[in-house]
Amino acid sequence: PKQAVKVLVTGAAGQIGYAIVAMIARGQMLGPDQPVVLHMLDLPRAADALNGVRMELIDAALPLLRGVVATSDEAEAFKGVNVAILIGGWPRKEGMKRKDLIVKNVPIYKSQASALQQHAAPNCKVLVVANPANTNALVLKEFAGGIPAKNITCLTRLDHNRALGQVAEKLNVPVGDVKNAIIWGNHSSTQFPDASHATVRTELGERPVKELVADEKWLREEFVSTVQQRGAAVIKARKLSSSLSAASAACDHIRDWVLGTPKGTWVSMGVCSDGSYGIPEGTFFSFPVTCDKGEWSIVQGLQIDDFARSKMEASASELKEEKAVAINIL
Ligand code: NAI
Repeated sequence: PKQAVKVLVTGAAGQIGYAIVAMIARGQMLGPDQPVVLHMLDLPRAADALNGVRMELIDAALPLLRGVVATSDEAEAFKGVNVAILIGGWPRKEGMKRKDLIVKNVPIYKSQASALQQHAAPNCKVLVVANPANTNALVLKEFAGGIPAKNITCLTRLDHNRALGQVAEKLNVPVGDVKNAIIWGNHSSTQFPDASHATVRTELGERPVKELVADEKWLREEFVSTVQQRGAAVIKARKLSSSLSAASAACDHIRDWVLGTPKGTWVSMGVCSDGSYGIPEGTFFSFPVTCDKGEWSIVQGLQIDDFARSKMEASASELKEEKAVAINIL
Protein backbone atom coordinates (compact mmCIF):
# COMPACT_ATOMS: atom_id res chain seq x y z
CA PRO A 1 0.00 0.00 0.00
CA LYS A 2 1.11 3.57 -0.69
CA GLN A 3 2.40 5.65 2.19
CA ALA A 4 0.25 8.66 3.07
CA VAL A 5 1.39 12.04 1.74
CA LYS A 6 1.22 14.93 4.19
CA VAL A 7 -0.52 17.93 2.70
CA LEU A 8 -0.58 21.30 4.46
CA VAL A 9 -3.36 23.79 3.83
CA THR A 10 -2.93 27.19 5.47
CA GLY A 11 -5.93 29.45 5.89
CA ALA A 12 -7.89 26.20 6.09
CA ALA A 13 -10.82 27.79 7.96
CA GLY A 14 -11.30 30.25 5.09
CA GLN A 15 -13.42 29.99 1.97
CA ILE A 16 -10.94 28.32 -0.35
CA GLY A 17 -9.72 26.17 2.53
CA TYR A 18 -13.21 24.83 3.14
CA ALA A 19 -13.58 23.89 -0.51
CA ILE A 20 -10.13 22.39 -1.02
CA VAL A 21 -9.75 20.08 1.96
CA ALA A 22 -12.55 17.80 0.75
CA MET A 23 -11.13 17.81 -2.78
CA ILE A 24 -7.71 16.76 -1.47
CA ALA A 25 -9.20 14.05 0.73
CA ARG A 26 -11.16 12.71 -2.25
CA GLY A 27 -8.02 12.25 -4.34
CA GLN A 28 -8.51 15.19 -6.71
CA MET A 29 -5.04 16.52 -5.99
CA LEU A 30 -2.80 13.46 -5.73
CA GLY A 31 -4.85 10.76 -7.40
CA PRO A 32 -7.59 8.31 -6.39
CA ASP A 33 -5.21 5.77 -4.85
CA GLN A 34 -3.02 8.12 -2.82
CA PRO A 35 -3.79 8.30 0.93
CA VAL A 36 -3.27 11.69 2.56
CA VAL A 37 -2.83 13.22 5.98
CA LEU A 38 -4.20 16.77 6.09
CA HIS A 39 -2.41 19.42 8.11
CA MET A 40 -4.60 22.51 8.53
CA LEU A 41 -3.30 25.83 9.83
CA ASP A 42 -5.24 28.95 10.66
CA LEU A 43 -4.97 31.84 13.10
CA PRO A 44 -5.86 31.33 16.79
CA ARG A 45 -8.99 33.43 16.32
CA ALA A 46 -10.23 30.90 13.74
CA ALA A 47 -9.46 27.88 15.94
CA ASP A 48 -13.12 26.99 16.57
CA ALA A 49 -14.01 27.22 12.91
CA LEU A 50 -10.98 25.10 12.04
CA ASN A 51 -12.02 22.48 14.54
CA GLY A 52 -15.44 22.46 12.88
CA VAL A 53 -13.79 21.70 9.54
CA ARG A 54 -11.85 18.87 11.19
CA MET A 55 -15.10 17.41 12.54
CA GLU A 56 -16.74 17.59 9.13
CA LEU A 57 -13.79 15.80 7.53
CA ILE A 58 -14.22 12.97 10.02
CA ASP A 59 -17.97 12.95 9.38
CA ALA A 60 -17.43 12.67 5.63
CA ALA A 61 -15.79 9.25 6.18
CA LEU A 62 -13.29 9.71 3.38
CA PRO A 63 -11.32 6.50 2.83
CA LEU A 64 -8.15 8.23 1.56
CA LEU A 65 -7.93 10.48 4.60
CA ARG A 66 -5.52 8.92 7.10
CA GLY A 67 -5.32 11.75 9.61
CA VAL A 68 -6.12 15.40 10.27
CA VAL A 69 -4.02 17.92 12.17
CA ALA A 70 -5.80 21.20 12.94
CA THR A 71 -3.59 23.79 14.57
CA SER A 72 -2.66 27.43 14.90
CA ASP A 73 0.99 26.56 15.53
CA GLU A 74 3.18 27.02 12.45
CA ALA A 75 5.83 24.52 13.53
CA GLU A 76 3.25 21.78 14.11
CA ALA A 77 1.47 22.59 10.84
CA PHE A 78 4.63 22.47 8.67
CA LYS A 79 6.09 19.37 10.37
CA GLY A 80 7.16 16.85 7.73
CA VAL A 81 4.77 18.06 5.01
CA ASN A 82 5.39 16.93 1.42
CA VAL A 83 3.01 19.41 -0.21
CA ALA A 84 2.16 22.88 1.12
CA ILE A 85 -0.79 24.89 -0.18
CA LEU A 86 -0.45 28.38 1.23
CA ILE A 87 -3.83 30.08 1.16
CA GLY A 88 -3.72 31.93 4.48
CA GLY A 89 -3.07 35.60 4.50
CA TRP A 90 -4.43 39.06 4.98
CA PRO A 91 -7.45 39.40 2.70
CA ARG A 92 -7.92 42.34 0.40
CA LYS A 93 -10.67 44.58 1.72
CA GLU A 94 -12.64 47.04 -0.32
CA GLY A 95 -10.63 50.14 -1.11
CA MET A 96 -7.35 48.45 -0.19
CA LYS A 97 -4.53 49.13 -2.63
CA ARG A 98 -2.28 46.38 -3.92
CA LYS A 99 0.60 48.01 -2.10
CA ASP A 100 -1.21 47.75 1.26
CA LEU A 101 -1.85 44.10 0.54
CA ILE A 102 1.89 43.56 0.06
CA VAL A 103 2.68 45.41 3.27
CA LYS A 104 0.29 43.13 5.21
CA ASN A 105 1.35 39.83 3.63
CA VAL A 106 5.12 40.06 3.29
CA PRO A 107 5.75 39.58 7.04
CA ILE A 108 3.39 36.56 7.08
CA TYR A 109 5.29 34.94 4.20
CA LYS A 110 8.64 35.68 5.79
CA SER A 111 7.52 33.84 8.91
CA GLN A 112 6.09 30.92 6.91
CA ALA A 113 9.35 30.69 4.97
CA SER A 114 11.25 29.91 8.11
CA ALA A 115 8.63 27.37 9.26
CA LEU A 116 8.89 25.74 5.85
CA GLN A 117 12.65 25.60 5.95
CA GLN A 118 12.82 24.27 9.48
CA HIS A 119 9.97 21.78 9.53
CA ALA A 120 8.80 20.67 6.08
CA ALA A 121 10.08 17.55 4.28
CA PRO A 122 13.22 18.51 2.31
CA ASN A 123 11.62 18.09 -1.11
CA CYS A 124 8.32 19.75 -0.17
CA LYS A 125 6.42 21.21 -3.13
CA VAL A 126 4.92 24.61 -2.38
CA LEU A 127 1.99 26.36 -4.01
CA VAL A 128 1.20 29.94 -2.97
CA VAL A 129 -2.44 30.89 -3.51
CA ALA A 130 -2.70 33.91 -1.19
CA ASN A 131 -2.38 37.30 -2.82
CA PRO A 132 -0.21 38.95 -3.91
CA ALA A 133 0.68 35.39 -4.96
CA ASN A 134 3.78 36.01 -7.08
CA THR A 135 5.35 38.36 -4.56
CA ASN A 136 4.51 36.09 -1.61
CA ALA A 137 6.28 33.29 -3.51
CA LEU A 138 9.29 35.54 -4.01
CA VAL A 139 9.43 36.29 -0.28
CA LEU A 140 9.26 32.55 0.47
CA LYS A 141 12.13 31.86 -1.90
CA GLU A 142 14.26 34.57 -0.32
CA PHE A 143 13.70 33.36 3.24
CA ALA A 144 13.39 29.57 2.90
CA GLY A 145 17.05 29.00 2.13
CA GLY A 146 17.05 25.19 2.22
CA ILE A 147 14.11 24.81 -0.15
CA PRO A 148 15.13 24.85 -3.84
CA ALA A 149 13.57 27.71 -5.84
CA LYS A 150 12.09 25.18 -8.27
CA ASN A 151 9.94 23.79 -5.43
CA ILE A 152 8.18 27.13 -4.93
CA THR A 153 5.33 28.09 -7.27
CA CYS A 154 2.27 30.31 -7.29
CA LEU A 155 -1.24 29.81 -8.62
CA THR A 156 -2.19 31.14 -12.04
CA ARG A 157 -4.00 27.94 -12.99
CA LEU A 158 -7.33 29.53 -12.12
CA ASP A 159 -6.67 32.21 -14.74
CA HIS A 160 -5.53 29.49 -17.15
CA ASN A 161 -8.72 27.50 -16.57
CA ARG A 162 -10.80 30.66 -16.97
CA ALA A 163 -9.12 31.20 -20.35
CA LEU A 164 -9.99 27.64 -21.43
CA GLY A 165 -13.54 28.22 -20.21
CA GLN A 166 -13.96 31.40 -22.24
CA VAL A 167 -12.73 29.74 -25.43
CA ALA A 168 -15.02 26.74 -24.85
CA GLU A 169 -18.02 29.05 -24.35
CA LYS A 170 -17.16 31.10 -27.42
CA LEU A 171 -16.82 28.05 -29.68
CA ASN A 172 -19.49 26.01 -27.91
CA VAL A 173 -17.18 23.02 -27.46
CA PRO A 174 -16.46 20.89 -24.36
CA VAL A 175 -13.76 22.58 -22.27
CA GLY A 176 -11.84 19.30 -22.17
CA ASP A 177 -11.22 19.64 -25.90
CA VAL A 178 -9.47 23.01 -25.48
CA LYS A 179 -5.84 23.17 -24.41
CA ASN A 180 -2.62 25.19 -24.37
CA ALA A 181 -3.91 28.61 -23.42
CA ILE A 182 -1.23 30.62 -21.62
CA ILE A 183 -1.28 33.05 -18.73
CA TRP A 184 1.84 35.20 -18.80
CA GLY A 185 2.94 37.31 -15.84
CA ASN A 186 1.46 38.34 -12.55
CA HIS A 187 -1.71 36.95 -10.98
CA SER A 188 -3.27 40.42 -11.20
CA SER A 189 -5.11 42.49 -13.75
CA THR A 190 -1.84 42.99 -15.71
CA GLN A 191 -1.67 39.27 -16.51
CA PHE A 192 -1.70 38.44 -20.21
CA PRO A 193 -4.14 35.67 -21.16
CA ASP A 194 -2.90 34.43 -24.52
CA ALA A 195 -4.91 32.10 -26.75
CA SER A 196 -2.68 32.45 -29.77
CA HIS A 197 -1.12 29.00 -29.29
CA ALA A 198 -4.25 27.27 -27.99
CA THR A 199 -5.90 24.44 -29.88
CA VAL A 200 -9.22 22.59 -29.97
CA ARG A 201 -9.64 18.87 -30.60
CA THR A 202 -12.04 18.38 -33.50
CA GLU A 203 -13.05 15.52 -35.75
CA LEU A 204 -10.43 16.81 -38.19
CA GLY A 205 -7.68 16.74 -35.58
CA GLU A 206 -6.30 19.61 -33.51
CA ARG A 207 -7.11 23.03 -34.88
CA PRO A 208 -5.80 26.44 -33.74
CA VAL A 209 -8.23 28.49 -31.64
CA LYS A 210 -7.19 31.53 -33.69
CA GLU A 211 -8.49 29.87 -36.84
CA LEU A 212 -11.74 28.61 -35.29
CA VAL A 213 -12.60 31.89 -33.55
CA ALA A 214 -11.53 33.86 -36.62
CA ASP A 215 -11.91 37.11 -34.72
CA GLU A 216 -8.56 38.72 -33.88
CA LYS A 217 -10.28 41.61 -32.11
CA TRP A 218 -12.11 39.26 -29.72
CA LEU A 219 -8.90 37.41 -28.92
CA ARG A 220 -6.94 40.60 -28.23
CA GLU A 221 -9.62 42.56 -26.41
CA GLU A 222 -12.72 40.90 -25.01
CA PHE A 223 -11.09 37.54 -24.25
CA VAL A 224 -8.14 39.21 -22.53
CA SER A 225 -10.21 41.60 -20.42
CA THR A 226 -12.85 38.99 -19.49
CA VAL A 227 -10.17 36.65 -18.11
CA GLN A 228 -8.31 39.51 -16.40
CA GLN A 229 -11.50 40.80 -14.75
CA ARG A 230 -13.17 37.45 -14.02
CA GLY A 231 -12.21 37.47 -10.34
CA ALA A 232 -13.82 40.88 -9.88
CA ALA A 233 -16.93 39.74 -11.78
CA VAL A 234 -17.33 36.75 -9.45
CA ILE A 235 -16.96 38.99 -6.39
CA LYS A 236 -19.58 41.34 -7.78
CA ALA A 237 -22.00 38.48 -8.35
CA ARG A 238 -21.34 36.40 -5.23
CA LYS A 239 -20.22 39.13 -2.83
CA LEU A 240 -17.44 36.67 -2.06
CA SER A 241 -14.32 35.86 -4.05
CA SER A 242 -13.82 32.76 -6.19
CA SER A 243 -13.35 29.77 -3.96
CA LEU A 244 -14.68 26.61 -5.60
CA SER A 245 -12.81 27.43 -8.81
CA ALA A 246 -9.66 28.51 -6.93
CA ALA A 247 -9.65 25.27 -4.92
CA SER A 248 -10.20 23.22 -8.06
CA ALA A 249 -7.37 25.04 -9.87
CA ALA A 250 -4.99 24.49 -6.95
CA CYS A 251 -5.73 20.74 -7.16
CA ASP A 252 -5.09 20.81 -10.93
CA HIS A 253 -1.79 22.65 -10.38
CA ILE A 254 -0.41 20.13 -7.88
CA ARG A 255 -1.81 17.09 -9.72
CA ASP A 256 -0.12 18.05 -12.98
CA TRP A 257 3.12 18.99 -11.21
CA VAL A 258 3.31 15.68 -9.33
CA LEU A 259 1.74 13.27 -11.84
CA GLY A 260 2.83 15.04 -15.07
CA THR A 261 1.11 16.88 -17.92
CA PRO A 262 -0.28 14.82 -20.81
CA LYS A 263 1.94 14.67 -23.91
CA GLY A 264 1.43 17.74 -26.09
CA THR A 265 -0.29 19.70 -23.32
CA TRP A 266 1.05 22.55 -21.26
CA VAL A 267 -0.41 24.44 -18.31
CA SER A 268 0.32 27.82 -16.71
CA MET A 269 2.25 28.04 -13.45
CA GLY A 270 3.85 30.94 -11.62
CA VAL A 271 7.51 29.93 -11.32
CA CYS A 272 10.91 31.52 -10.74
CA SER A 273 12.13 32.79 -14.12
CA ASP A 274 15.41 31.49 -15.51
CA GLY A 275 15.44 34.33 -18.03
CA SER A 276 13.16 32.57 -20.55
CA TYR A 277 11.35 34.92 -22.96
CA GLY A 278 13.45 37.82 -21.66
CA ILE A 279 11.76 37.83 -18.24
CA PRO A 280 14.38 38.82 -15.65
CA GLU A 281 15.86 35.88 -13.76
CA GLY A 282 14.42 35.42 -10.29
CA THR A 283 11.04 36.99 -11.12
CA PHE A 284 8.03 34.86 -10.14
CA PHE A 285 6.18 34.97 -13.44
CA SER A 286 3.49 32.80 -14.95
CA PHE A 287 4.74 30.75 -17.91
CA PRO A 288 3.50 27.80 -19.95
CA VAL A 289 5.10 24.69 -18.45
CA THR A 290 5.11 20.95 -18.96
CA CYS A 291 5.69 18.61 -16.02
CA ASP A 292 7.40 15.24 -15.88
CA LYS A 293 8.53 13.15 -12.90
CA GLY A 294 7.64 15.91 -10.46
CA GLU A 295 9.60 18.66 -12.25
CA TRP A 296 8.23 21.53 -14.29
CA SER A 297 9.98 23.05 -17.30
CA ILE A 298 9.10 26.21 -19.18
CA VAL A 299 7.91 25.57 -22.75
CA GLN A 300 10.54 27.05 -25.03
CA GLY A 301 10.51 28.54 -28.51
CA LEU A 302 6.98 29.97 -28.73
CA GLN A 303 6.63 32.86 -31.16
CA ILE A 304 6.02 36.14 -29.31
CA ASP A 305 4.67 39.03 -31.41
CA ASP A 306 4.92 42.73 -30.50
CA PHE A 307 1.45 42.79 -28.95
CA ALA A 308 2.27 39.87 -26.64
CA ARG A 309 5.71 41.28 -25.86
CA SER A 310 4.30 44.60 -24.67
CA LYS A 311 1.72 42.86 -22.44
CA MET A 312 4.38 40.58 -20.93
CA GLU A 313 6.68 43.52 -20.25
CA ALA A 314 3.91 45.48 -18.52
CA SER A 315 3.26 42.59 -16.15
CA ALA A 316 6.99 42.07 -15.52
CA SER A 317 7.35 45.72 -14.66
CA GLU A 318 4.45 45.53 -12.19
CA LEU A 319 6.21 42.59 -10.52
CA LYS A 320 9.39 44.63 -10.31
CA GLU A 321 7.46 47.34 -8.47
CA GLU A 322 5.87 44.80 -6.12
CA LYS A 323 9.33 43.43 -5.36
CA ALA A 324 10.59 46.91 -4.53
CA VAL A 325 7.72 47.44 -2.08
CA ALA A 326 8.41 44.03 -0.48
CA ILE A 327 12.14 44.69 -0.14
CA ASN A 328 11.43 48.05 1.37
CA ILE A 329 9.39 46.43 4.17
CA LEU A 330 11.97 43.72 4.80
P1 NAI B 1 -10.56 33.91 3.50
O1 NAI B 1 -10.40 35.24 4.13
O2 NAI B 1 -11.90 33.25 3.46
O3 NAI B 1 -9.57 32.88 4.20
C1 NAI B 1 -8.27 33.21 4.54
C2 NAI B 1 -7.94 32.46 5.83
O4 NAI B 1 -6.57 32.68 6.12
C3 NAI B 1 -8.75 32.94 7.04
O5 NAI B 1 -9.37 31.83 7.68
C4 NAI B 1 -7.67 33.57 7.92
O6 NAI B 1 -7.96 33.43 9.31
C5 NAI B 1 -6.43 32.79 7.51
N1 NAI B 1 -5.16 33.43 7.83
C6 NAI B 1 -4.85 34.75 7.85
N2 NAI B 1 -3.57 34.92 8.19
C7 NAI B 1 -3.05 33.68 8.39
C8 NAI B 1 -1.78 33.22 8.77
N3 NAI B 1 -0.78 34.06 9.03
N4 NAI B 1 -1.59 31.89 8.87
C9 NAI B 1 -2.60 31.03 8.64
N5 NAI B 1 -3.83 31.42 8.28
C10 NAI B 1 -4.05 32.73 8.15
O7 NAI B 1 -9.98 34.06 2.03
P2 NAI B 1 -10.14 33.11 0.75
O8 NAI B 1 -11.29 33.55 -0.05
O9 NAI B 1 -10.06 31.69 1.17
O10 NAI B 1 -8.83 33.52 -0.07
C11 NAI B 1 -7.55 33.25 0.44
C12 NAI B 1 -6.47 33.92 -0.36
O11 NAI B 1 -6.43 33.42 -1.69
C13 NAI B 1 -6.63 35.44 -0.52
O12 NAI B 1 -5.34 36.03 -0.37
C14 NAI B 1 -7.11 35.60 -1.93
O13 NAI B 1 -6.77 36.86 -2.47
C15 NAI B 1 -6.34 34.50 -2.62
N6 NAI B 1 -6.88 34.04 -3.90
C16 NAI B 1 -5.97 33.71 -4.88
C17 NAI B 1 -6.37 33.22 -6.09
C18 NAI B 1 -5.36 32.87 -7.13
O14 NAI B 1 -5.78 32.51 -8.24
N7 NAI B 1 -4.06 32.93 -6.90
C19 NAI B 1 -7.79 33.05 -6.38
C20 NAI B 1 -8.68 33.39 -5.30
C21 NAI B 1 -8.21 33.87 -4.11
